[in-house]
Amino acid sequence: MARPVLRTPLCHLLGIEYPVISAGMGPVGGGARAVALAELTAAVSNAGGLGVIGGAGFSPDRLREEIAKVRSMTDRPFGVDLLLPSNFLGGAASGEIPRDPRDLIPDSSKAGMRKIAGDLGIEWKPIEQVSNPMANRRQGGGMSDDQMEVVIEERVPVFAAGLGTPAPWLDRLHANGTKVLSLVGNTKNAKRVAAAGVDVVVAQGTEAGGHTGRVATMALIPQVVDAISPTPVVAAGGIADGRGLAAALALGAIGVWCGTAFLVADEANQPDTQKQRILAATDEDTRITKLYSGKTMRNITNPLIEAWEAANIPAMPMGLQGALTGDLLNSVRAAGRDDLMMNAAGQISGLLTKSRPAAEILNDMVAQAADILARRLPAIVTAIPG
Ligand SMILES: Cc1cc2nc3c(=O)[nH]c(=O)nc-3n(C[C@H](O)[C@H](O)[C@H](O)COP(=O)(O)O)c2cc1C
Repeated sequence: MARPVLRTPLCHLLGIEYPVISAGMGPVGGGARAVALAELTAAVSNAGGLGVIGGAGFSPDRLREEIAKVRSMTDRPFGVDLLLPSNFLGGAASGEIPRDPRDLIPDSSKAGMRKIAGDLGIEWKPIEQVSNPMANRRQGGGMSDDQMEVVIEERVPVFAAGLGTPAPWLDRLHANGTKVLSLVGNTKNAKRVAAAGVDVVVAQGTEAGGHTGRVATMALIPQVVDAISPTPVVAAGGIADGRGLAAALALGAIGVWCGTAFLVADEANQPDTQKQRILAATDEDTRITKLYSGKTMRNITNPLIEAWEAANIPAMPMGLQGALTGDLLNSVRAAGRDDLMMNAAGQISGLLTKSRPAAEILNDMVAQAADILARRLPAIVTAIPG
């Protein structure tokens, strides 16, 4: 069969064949592992979409290595995603951080975490030496300054800001010819980053896996499109096949940004047990929780998330939540309870039935969308603009 054609202005803007981007999925499971490494990134770019490295958890050197690896695997455009949160450490960045950040955790919260472990039959195994979350971070400068220097030096084709605003770096990125994407979950933030001059706003609905907001994709996209026109919008959250892609285009987006769909790709750096839980999940099996990062994050739910939510322990700001959860998660790990570890994924998990190569996921999505737009809808809809 001939290769389908599906072009939107996003293709011209980013130099890609199809308007599909694989999300930059960064650190999961305690920050040690990124999902979207060079293999997934290059596979998506080679298939005609845009692959994006989930670089948030990387040291600058590690990020540089991953970029080089992608370049050795594809000569097509690709992206790097970083998190630029403004409230990392909840303002504690400018103050004194004790050598052991657990000293910042209220005793009642510590007791609550211990009780959760007890209730789940997990032996308490605290971490002996906790690293200071300010190590390797510039005081008051956000979490990503050094990573951003790498993005700029390496002149990556596309940069995506997963949280926060890329405004402080925009001039230097644009001077390199880098296209800048910015993820938002509401119209207010879309206006803010569009006014700063980003090239594309990725509007992500609450259905999404990972950090997520409160507004659903169906409601969010048209409102963001209207609010920031003529800045182009890419849709994210709950899109994993050609139906979602076609719907996103109908809502006014010029492309899609998909995470969960590619989480189960063969090239995703995701343990098979985690993939299997996503493939087994139904549409009701995810839950938003602050347990793992201190910010609202959608995960495949598990008994630990349910216990945390029931316990009503106040979450700490992003960057310090690890000081609260570290001992509990260390105990969970030591007990071999992988089923209780973070498994960020979206509501569309229920649609996914098998692991397969990223190129196949992308090709099927594009072929189905082209069929819907060019054949199925014209066949069943009679529409004549008045
Ligand atoms: C495991 C996982 C890790 C993620 N990590 C990041 C990240 O580091 N940076 C980011 O901008 N978005 C991250 N996201 C969110 C995605 O970029 C994307 O917006 C979301 O997955 C889209 O919704 P969907 O999962 O329904 O496709 C992550 C999502 C998942 C599922």
